[in-house]
Amino acid sequence: MEDKPTNVKEFEEIARRNLPKMYYDFFRGGAEDEYTLRENVMAFQRIKIQPRVLVGATSIDMATSLLGYHLSAPILVAPTSGHKLAHIEGEVATARGAAACNTIMVLSFSSSCSLEEVASSCNAIRFFQLYVYKRRDISAKLVQRAESSGFKAIVVTVDTPRLGRRESDIKNKMIPPQSANLDGLLSFEVDENKGGSRLEAFASQTLDPSLSWKDIGWIKSITKLPILVKGIVNGEDARKAIEVGASGIIVSNHGGRQLDYAPATISILEEVVQAVSGAVPVLIDGGVRRGTDVFKAIALGAKAVMVGRPIIYGLAAKGEKGVIEVIQMLKNELELTMALAGCPSVKDITRNHVRTPEDGIR
Ligand code: FNR
Repeated sequence: MEDKPTNVKEFEEIARRNLPKMYYDFFRGGAEDEYTLRENVMAFQRIKIQPRVLVGATSIDMATSLLGYHLSAPILVAPTSGHKLAHIEGEVATARGAAACNTIMVLSFSSSCSLEEVASSCNAIRFFQLYVYKRRDISAKLVQRAESSGFKAIVVTVDTPRLGRRESDIKNKMIPPQSANLDGLLSFEVDENKGGSRLEAFASQTLDPSLSWKDIGWIKSITKLPILVKGIVNGEDARKAIEVGASGIIVSNHGGRQLDYAPATISILEEVVQAVSGAVPVLIDGGVRRGTDVFKAIALGAKAVMVGRPIIYGLAAKGEKGVIEVIQMLKNELELTMALAGCPSVKDITRNHVRTPEDGIR
């Protein structure tokens, strides 16, 4: 295949060719049987779009807003770790790509460029993703650093009390990507005598499995920034998140990397949206590979989607330019989808524009 992809999925093959196997497998992989990883994509494909015709739209407006911040389209960059494993410029290139597309990047806690480096790389609205460590002082320090570096929200990931069992990482003895944010705060010795995923060993030393609902209150007590809870997959937990003061919900199963056989995110989006009933914005990630997927998520009540792997594959293929191409492709596809479905603006996309398996496909 020549290096001129015509859709987002084709970036994966270029990334595979460009990357050492250990890193490609790390980016691509999911937990155990990878059922949830596959289902995230397949469940989008089971939803049909019901177009309306003759709406007389000469232009299409994809713009929207999130927590008061403008987005050129309802597409954000999901937090993913270790971008220097994909490209030498790491998260700085990703941040510049996202900024060029006028969208928000959520920077991973485990980024390979420091959050300060990313903050000073270009002017843009950015959010910071937080893992809560047993060493609460480290998590608190990173929240404070993010706040003083101008990040606008904290995205707390709640689906990772322990790391999911990712078998390709076990086979490859995956070494954790260097986390620049932890420099000087935490050191990790790789035990050469032990087999298995070193990433898993690192995670079990650091992640706090005792994290509970009351800790969202603790995070709120150490920052003025709004908090989005990432990793919700049912309506009841969504309601609890609002009770403890979340300003947004992210429906996510960590791209199928944590609990295998968790439901595909798009299949439970509507349950969460109904439970939230407009109190806070609901975002979704997992399996978004086409503009039609973005359209379907919006129709089922999401405020915006986040995209994980395709961004990394774009970065691995062509650095910042690849990130821009991936986001731009998704935007172009969404724009065309809206035109063909008879929706001149994002608010025109309604539940009536899709048919899910639960509706019975008509
Ligand atoms: C992730 N994800 C993730 N999530 C998070 O909260 N903090 C993190 O550091 C990471 N790191 C990470 C690394 C890699 C390589 C992947 C693929 C994913 C999960 C991510 O935010 C998001 O939920 C999924 O990637 C969305 O699914 P898709 O778009 O990859 O299908």
